[in-house]
This record gives sequence, structure tokens and C-alpha cells, in this order.
Amino acid sequence: MLMKSTMVGRGILGCFIVCLSLASVSSIKGTLSSIKDLKGIEFGHTSPRHGLMLLHWLANNIYNDNNGNMRLNFNPARRDYGFHFYRNADNPRPLPILPHQRGSYYSLGNLVHNNNNDALALPDYVTQRFYNSRGPESNRDRVILRVREEESNQFIVDEVYVTQHYPRNGNTGTGYDPDNTHLVSFNLLTQIQRLTTIGRNDIPRIYNVEINHNSLQELENIWGHTPGLALLLAIVLSFTFRAQSCRVTSQSTLKHEDNALIKLEVKTTDIGKARIIWSGIPKRLLDQGVMVVLHRNNNSKSKLDRSSVGGQASGSYNTSVPPNPGLQVRLCKEVNNWWTYLGFGSTIGEEIWRGSEFHNANREIPVDIIGYDASLQLFVKDGKACARLYVKKSFTAWKKMFNNSWVGFYSSEGTLDHKTWQWAVKFSEESCSDLEEIPEYDVYVYKSSMTMSPGVQARFILEKSGGEKARTPPWERLVQSQSL
Ligand SMILES: *[C@@H]1O[C@H](CO)[C@@H](O)[C@H](O)[C@H]1NC(C)=O
Ligand SMILES: *[C@@H]1O[C@H](CO)[C@@H](O)[C@H](O)[C@H]1NC(C)=O
Ligand SMILES: *[C@@H]1O[C@H](CO)[C@@H](O)[C@H](O)[C@H]1NC(C)=O
Repeated sequence: MLMKSTMVGRGILGCFIVCLSLASVSSIKGTLSSIKDLKGIEFGHTSPRHGLMLLHWLANNIYNDNNGNMRLNFNPARRDYGFHFYRNADNPRPLPILPHQRGSYYSLGNLVHNNNNDALALPDYVTQRFYNSRGPESNRDRVILRVREEESNQFIVDEVYVTQHYPRNGNTGTGYDPDNTHLVSFNLLTQIQRLTTIGRNDIPRIYNVEINHNSLQELENIWGHTPGLALLLAIVLSFTFRAQSCRVTSQSTLKHEDNALIKLEVKTTDIGKARIIWSGIPKRLLDQGVMVVLHRNNNSKSKLDRSSVGGQASGSYNTSVPPNPGLQVRLCKEVNNWWTYLGFGSTIGEEIWRGSEFHNANREIPVDIIGYDASLQLFVKDGKACARLYVKKSFTAWKKMFNNSWVGFYSSEGTLDHKTWQWAVKFSEESCSDLEEIPEYDVYVYKSSMTMSPGVQARFILEKSGGEKARTPPWERLVQSQSL
């Protein structure tokens, strides 16, 4: 009897200690366990914040293996999609301290330019708003993963968080705000995944929330290309949506809404030049006269090339500019004045909308070189096909192992013969000014003499005469689904 009560006592005490120690290591504000819980927090709620898009993207790039582990379709340590190692050293500390050797935190969502633009690999639906909004609210949201690398390139996700930076104008510092940091349950991620396959009429039954069908229709018009996203926004924002749409009935915001249907893209022609593709231009703008203008990147004022859209809601224009990462199309008003009547063409007027910056075809992340701690990526520079090798720093014997290895450039998936090639060990180290250093990887690049065009592919061949260990998806030849 006595023994029993001591055990009970110890049990309670044990729980007490656990609870205490949890409280002392973490100031997390509880767990979000369903989509409904996202309604009650600040994360991603006001335009142009991108948090809900980030979370939607993450939920659809994480999967449950058959052993109950959550795994990733990408490698955060290689900085895929702009993931960054996060030290959790802000003051106050937003996340629990990790026991030694028990994984790392990686943070995703900073869209502001650093030298390397891995974040550009995120699909348009995540970045688009950010190119077209000004002001302090954008770029605050982040998702953070706590992961363990089980074996090379295989990550197990232990925890997922959503968080946000303190407002930029406050005197609260620059770190993440612990009061707005929440643990995300795997159930919530699974619920977001399921939105891609269920209909709007199932929502009240499955998630126990009502959605406003008019708001959903508006959201579908804009985000309909991305399965499940409009539903997520409709559920999470349903309380605030009304208030928001009342507040924003001014002419300028209404215009803004149909601007969100505009799509501006950079592609590659088969002679190694940038090609501008546009679609979804509202009639209101076509009637006024608009033009597409190519810029070096989002921060550049200089115009590399331009063309009138000629009254076409969708179309394309082949520029004379070689494709480079960062290129951006902007839609501007076309202004006709005395200059035009003299035959010198129209001038570029007020800017209306910006496309996302060009990354690489299909926004590819590197492909694994099978059996080695290395990976291969195809990219374009000055219109030429280039390849990048990511070699894990712990793979110190790589030069010996890859002594007879080479990377070939092929004009299409179907061809057996390469157009040009280079030894892997002759690739040059990508300089730090081009690329912010990645702690766990060395990066080597090679710029070939081959003109980049749709279909081009790079392959990694282990031996002089065979043993293919990696091939990249062909340039601009993948069927895009999510990223549209
Ligand atoms: C793009 O440029 C605009 C205006 O200069 C800026 O407000 C915005 O933050 C930039 N976006 C990105 C993703 O760099
Ligand atoms: C533009 O480039 C595309 C892709 O290379 C090509 O199919 C098309 O014929 C080109 N258009 C013109 C007008 O040159
Ligand atoms: C491979 O190693 C041999 C001898 O160690 C060397 O002569 C040769 O140049 C190396 N190959 C390459 C591509 O560097």
C-alpha cells in the first residue's frame, strides 16, 4: 500500500519535473494540431505575408515513410530552396535548446536577396506576392525544421515550427519572436496535404469549419493552379477575410486583385536567348497598352530588352539577351507621345506587375550522384549550359574516387552522345562572392561551350567509359505541376 502511493507520488513528481524542464527550455506557445488552429495565430494572416504559402509548400514536400517517420524530398543542409542552418542563438531564444548531437534547425522563407538565390527555387506561388509588394510586413514569416541526417542525404524531421521576425520598425530586435513561435503537429501537415484531394463541400464535415464560398471563389481565381492552396487560405482567413475585403474596396486594391492573375516568365529559346512568356493580362490593361520589359534582376533599374504585348492577353517574345539567373520580366504601361509619332517607338511608363526572378529550368534542386556524397545540378550562365557539383565536406577522398569521372552535356534526354564534357576534378571551386558558403558542402562549377536550349541535360559518368551515376532533368522539359 505504502509502496503504491510512493510510486504514484513519484509519477506526479516526475511529470512535474518534466513539465518544469520543458517550460525552462522553451517558450513555445503551444502546438498547432489542426488547420483550425492556424486561424487563431498571426502567422501569414495579412497580405503580403507568405507564411501560409510556405507551410503549404512544406506540407507537400514532406512525406511519411512506412515506419512513421516524416522525411523530406530535398536536402536542407545543401541549402535547397534557400533553407539556412539556424543556430537558435537569438535573445530571447525562440526554440528549445537541442541536446548535443541531436539534430539541427533549418529555417526557410527569407526571400530577400543574398548572393546566392536558392530561395528562387521556391515556386511562384510562394514568392510572387513578395515581388509585388512594398512595405515592412513582407518577408517576416519562416518555417523551421528540426531534422536529423540519418544517412547521407536522408533526413528525418523531428519537429516543424512556424515563426516570424519581430516587426522591423519595433525596438524588439531582429530575431524570431518567441511569442509567435508555434510547434506544428504532423497531423496539421497531413491535413494540409489532404486539401489537395478533397472537395470544398467536404470541408465542414472533415475539418469542422465553415468556409465562405464567395471568398473561396476569389481565392481560386488567383491560386487555383496550386491544388489545395485556395482551400487552405479560405479556411484560415475566413474570419478575417470579410473584414479585409471591406477595408480594401478602394479602386487601387481592386486593380491589384486582377493583377494577381498576370503571369510573367523567363524561358530559354533554342538559340540560347531569354524568352519572355506572358499570360493573364486583364483587358483593362490591354486597352491602355502595356509592354513587357526584361531586367537583370529584381534590384536592377536598367532595361535589357522590351516589347509591346500587342493587345495579346498571352504571348511570347524572344529577346536578344542571354539567359542568366535573376532575370525578371516586368509589365509596364506603354506611353505614346510625340517621340512615338516620329517613329522612335513608345516609351516605358508606370510599372504594373513583376514576375519572379529566373532561377533555372523547372526550379530544380540538385540530383544525387548515386552511391556518393555528391550531387549534380544543371544551370545557365550567359546562355551557356553549366553544371554544379555539390560535394559533401566529409567526402574527402572525392578527387581520388572521381579521378576518371566526367560530366557530359547532352542535347536531349534521348541522345547517347554528349556534345561536350569535362573531368569532374577539373571543375573550379565556386567562389564565395558568387555563393554564400554552405557549411557542409564544397561547390564546384563548370561552364561549358554548349548553348543552353530546351531539352539539354547533364550526366555524371563515373568511369572513363561508362557507369552513369546521375542525370539532371532535361532543361525546361519537365511537366510542371505544383510550381505553376
Ligand atoms: C524586389 O524589389 C522591390 C522594390 O525594389 C522590393 O521591395 C522587394 O523586396 C524585392 N523583392 C525581392 C524578392 O528581392
Ligand atoms: C522563339 O523561340 C522559340 C523557342 O526557341 C521558337 O520555337 C520560336 O520559333 C521563336 N520565335 C521567333 C519569332 O523567332
Ligand atoms: C587521375 O590520376 C592520374 C594519376 O594519379 C593522373 O595522371 C591523371 O591526370 C588524373 N586524372 C585527372 C582527370 O585528373
